[in-house]
Amino acid sequence: MAQATRPAGFYRHHDGHRDALVCDGVPLAEIAAAEGTPLYVYSAATLRERYQAIDAAFQGYPHALHYALKANSTLAIARLLRDLGSSVDANSVWEIEVARTAGFTPSQIVFTGVGKTPEELESAVALGVKAINVESAGELARLEAIGARLGRAVRVAIRINPDIDARSHPKISTGLKINKFGVPLDEARQLLQTLEARRFLTLVAIHVHVGSQITSLDPLRRAAALAANVSADLQQQGFPLEYVDVGGGLGVSYDGGEVPSAADYVAAIVDAVRHTSLPIVLEPGRSIAAPAGALVARVIDVKARTAESEFIIIDAGMTELMRPALYGAFHRIEPVSAAAAGDRHYEIVGPVCESSDVVGRDRMLPVLQPGDIVAIRDAGAYGSAMASNYNRRPLPAEVLVDNGTWRVIKRRQTVADQLSLET
Ligand code: LLP
Repeated sequence: MAQATRPAGFYRHHDGHRDALVCDGVPLAEIAAAEGTPLYVYSAATLRERYQAIDAAFQGYPHALHYALKANSTLAIARLLRDLGSSVDANSVWEIEVARTAGFTPSQIVFTGVGKTPEELESAVALGVKAINVESAGELARLEAIGARLGRAVRVAIRINPDIDARSHPKISTGLKINKFGVPLDEARQLLQTLEARRFLTLVAIHVHVGSQITSLDPLRRAAALAANVSADLQQQGFPLEYVDVGGGLGVSYDGGEVPSAADYVAAIVDAVRHTSLPIVLEPGRSIAAPAGALVARVIDVKARTAESEFIIIDAGMTELMRPALYGAFHRIEPVSAAAAGDRHYEIVGPVCESSDVVGRDRMLPVLQPGDIVAIRDAGAYGSAMASNYNRRPLPAEVLVDNGTWRVIKRRQTVADQLSLET
């Protein structure tokens, strides 16, 4: 019953004259008071909802969701997704290690990455992952040599660079020929023809991934269609492919604008791949994790900026959430304990020693004072995963809220933790 009356995820709770930002039934102010700031807070309900929306959209079409760990690989989050039936896409041997610690089996791991070292390749082969997504002819040759040495056929997927413009931010578009990713289509077709004769390589799939935060279906559909068409040609030649891997990339709405729904996205992909009858592997990261997280921070200082606007200096910045500084990304910022809207003009900045450390430009908010708590929304993906120790700032604590209770899933780092690595 309690579940039915408690909306999932982040929402504002109005109670007489009080207005509070709440996560899965728990006021963020309560968590911030107990754990301090800056702090990542995640909604288990939102993670489940987002995963299940994509999963259900396949409507019985065979598929596997390989959550992209790079979006957020905090152990408890990886475990929660594993419990839902997820598999993973890992981008380094270290992400594979985290996946194994979270309980994923080798057959649930695909290994992608544009610069996998010989050591990383060897350990993935020895482990026997579901597939290594190969990014070049050179990498394929290195894998073949490892397979020969270990006396086993290496399961590979070839990542094709389809020369498709994802029309996302240039720093996170990966599908154009000028990008460093994958094997260009012409070269891939030739490379694929060599595979039949190479007995230490088993081709299991074709892989594409054209970028991230993609907000129109067209590039995603075209990339999937290309992967499916190449797969169909290979099937005709007798290659026993096991699935088509169409990557990740579905965007989320950071600013309230329209983005494709999980249902429309999956329908488009299934449409493009169905003629092969092959199962679909999808590698969603952001679309599952982003809306499930908020970065909670405290106002340290307020000072004049122009005649009309002020700086709000908070205790989280590019070290905790790099996206605004790196991509000019927009994240909603709202006070945790007052109305979300207001009429003060603010530039919200972090404490780091450079002017790129702006978290929110040009925002209208109610009056904020030192000590007030704010939440930076949709920070569950590529937030904590990209945090750094610049200025010796400790990595923030992380909390998971589940069904009205919360727990610390990553304790705040200390300077002693940092110094323990140093002499
Ligand atoms: N598969 C591969 C091979 C990838 O490279 C990525 C993301 C994904 C799947 C997951 O994509 P998603 O569903 O999350 O869009 N740091 C950037 C995003 C970089 C994405 C890198 N690759 C950001 O903060 O926007």
